Parts: sequence; structure tokens; C-alpha cells
Amino acid sequence: MAVGVLCAVRGAAESLVVRAAEASAGRFTVTRRCADLTELLAAAEAGLGRVAIVSAELDRLDVEAMLTLHRAGVQVVALADAARPWLVDRVQACGADLVVPTPDGLAGARTVLESATALLDAAVPDHPDLKGADAVLGEPLRRGRLVAVWGPTGAPGRTTVAVNLAAELAARGETSLLVDADTYGGTVAQVVGLLDEAPGLAAVARAAGQGSLDLRSLARLAPVIAERLRVLTGISRADRWPELPASALDVVWGVARQLVPWTLVDTGFCLEQDEQLSYDTRAPQRNAATLSALRAADVVVVVGAGDPVGLARLVRALSELADLRLDVPQVVVVNRLRASASGARPEAAVHDALARYAGVHRVLTLPEDRAAADGALLAGRVLRECAPGSALRKALLAVVERLAAPVAVG
Ligand SMILES: Nc1ncnc2c1ncn2[C@@H]1O[C@H](COP(=O)(O)OP(=O)(O)O)[C@@H](O)[C@H]1O
Ligand SMILES: [Mg+2]
Repeated sequence: MAVGVLCAVRGAAESLVVRAAEASAGRFTVTRRCADLTELLAAAEAGLGRVAIVSAELDRLDVEAMLTLHRAGVQVVALADAARPWLVDRVQACGADLVVPTPDGLAGARTVLESATALLDAAVPDHPDLKGADAVLGEPLRRGRLVAVWGPTGAPGRTTVAVNLAAELAARGETSLLVDADTYGGTVAQVVGLLDEAPGLAAVARAAGQGSLDLRSLARLAPVIAERLRVLTGISRADRWPELPASALDVVWGVARQLVPWTLVDTGFCLEQDEQLSYDTRAPQRNAATLSALRAADVVVVVGAGDPVGLARLVRALSELADLRLDVPQVVVVNRLRASASGARPEAAVHDALARYAGVHRVLTLPEDRAAADGALLAGRVLRECAPGSALRKALLAVVERLAAPVAVG
């Protein structure tokens, strides 16, 4: 049976590919000659072909587009001009399965089709999400750890914990990258005293989406704000959340792991996956950034508030998290613990409640410490700088120990 070929090729090479397919004695048939990317994606999703032959310079051919093609079961052969090596790199980074020279004759076009056959024969069911990242990274040099700091609504202190964990790890000599991926109103920039104008995560995601994110560009876009501490600020307005699609962030996490030993991601609170949109895999989702970070994480720090409402929310949050079936260790942190809200023995009350209602037996607690938390916010600095002896900072160090210990979490 002929292999269906979707053709989105610019210029004279297009008719060469079509003629080579016609002359292939029924081995290949061009099922759709696509004028642009939209037409190509629609044809792929309609199941019209198994191979897409595309010009590398096709407009909007990015990581997201490659993912859509791969999800539709289409292998991508990109045609690029050897005289423009940056185009080869870019399309490879975006996840093309093969990059071959643009043919300038019928023989060349035949070679393109032959290479597509080789690709189909060797088709490995790779995880499509990893293709872009692999292409960017080549051989893994090292693999830093990614910590997602997550927790329910109600401002339990996710940002406070994420920022201070990053600062403490950096102070221990391990370079950390703090990332604000909260699409409901991230505050990392403000908390660390940075201007909103920093390029931040959106710029990095854009580069990743276009296949141009590498170690150097990530390092350039993530400023060093203290010794061994880098930061990627969040989107400055909540309505910019479509700038943080999972397909791009998945690549970002991969590059971040190569750049630094620790990546700490401050996430949003919501895990809902928009059921209304789930039929449309290309629609952006507001919680994609949080979900992408959680799925990539080596450990999830779950932060809840210690008062009765906060604990009830934490119990529900833990069950929502369990529904994601992440199979990733969790460190449960109960913050803002105080006797006035939880009774004379707040620690015991929290441990009992979480053991009984969430089946969680290892919990770390952080005290309510207004003076330290407010002082840090006011100064736009971290606790180790402005309240090193505070009860809150001391308790936070126990969380750092837990993360940093070799078999620490679970
Ligand atoms: N242990 C604590 N004691 C006192 N105030 C705290 C504590 N932890 C956080 N806060 C304060 O609570 C507010 C919300 O914290 P934040 O980290 O921004 O929460 P989230 O990121 O979960 O929305 C901030 O004003 C912060 O300074
Ligand atoms: Mg926050």
C-alpha cells in the first residue's frame, strides 16, 4: 500500500517531490499539497498521511506544530538548505524526525522519499514530547533536579517557600533557578525585588517553542540575582497565560536541568484540565504550566496553610494531586502554623488531621512568623538575608535538608 505523503514544500522542490512520488510505482502517493501549516496540520489530524515533507522555513513550524504532527502519527522530513545551517538546527530543535537537503532535481527528490521510507521502517515509538528537548540537548551532560512547589488556593505560602528554598540551596553552593510559572498572578519578581520588565519565563517559552532555546540562551534570559541564584520571572499580566504552553515548557525544563542542579518552580494552584477543550488538543490551557511542571518534577513540595480551612483545602489538594497519578515523591509542608488557629498543640493537630484524612504521615511544618515574612516582603529580599535567625527560616532549612538528602523524600 502506498505511503501517504503530506507535502508542504516551498518553491520548485514541491513539484519535484510530487513527480518523484508519481514515479515511485505506487510506493508513495502525495495525498495533500498543503499551501501552509494550517492546511498541513488539518490534513495530518484527518489521518491523510504518514509522512510530512515540509520546508524548514515554513511559517510557524515550531515545537507545538511538530507535536501536533507527531500526535497524529505523522513523521516529519524537513527540507533545508545546507547553506543555511541555522535553519537546519532550528527545525531539528523543533523536533523534525529527519532533515535532508532541499532537492534540486528529480534524483534528489527520490532520495528524499527513500529517506522517508527508512524513517518509517525505523519508526520508534519515541515519546513525542521529548523529541524537541532531545534535539536541543543532544547527549545529556547532567541532570539537575526539578522541584515543583504547588499547593491549594488561599495563598498558603507557595511563593514564600519556593523563593526561600531556591535561595537556601544557592547559599549551600548549588546553583538554583527559580521559575515563576503561576498563571494566576505570579509574584516572584516582586518578592525578590525585580522589575516586571525582566524577559522571564514567557521569553524562554517563546524561544523553546521556536526551537532556539539552548543553554546559552537560557542563561542569558535568566538573570543572576544573587550568588548562584538565577530567576525567571512570571507573566506580568494574568491574561498572558497562553504564552506558557506545555509543549514549550517541557523543553524549558529539560534545558534548565542541564544548566543548573536545582530548578524550583512556583506554580499555580489549579489542576483542572479543561474538559470542554480536551477534544481540541491544540487549544491552550490555563493550567498547562502548572501541570507541565508537576509532570516534569522529581519532587513536588505541597504547601498548605495550617489553619482549619487551609488544612481542609490541603486534604482536597492532595487528593487532586493523587488523581494525576504522577508517581513522584511529595514533601508536604504545612505553613503559617499557629496555636491561635489550630489549638494549643498545633503540630499534633496537623499531623493527626493529615494522617487521618490524607494518609500522609510525614509532614514538615513552618510557623506563622509575621515579622520575618513581612520584613522580607518589604525589603524584597529572602529570609536568609533579612531574618536569618527567624523561626520561619530555621524551619525552612529542614525542608531544604529533606530535598537535598540523597534518599530524602517520599
Ligand atoms: N509562615 C508565614 N508567616 C507569616 N506570613 C507568611 C508565612 N508564609 C507566607 N506568609 C505571607 O503570606 C502571604 C502569601 O504568601 P505567598 O507565598 O505569596 O503565598 P502563595 O504563593 O501561596 O499565594 C504573603 O504576604 C507572605 O509574606
Ligand atoms: Mg504565589
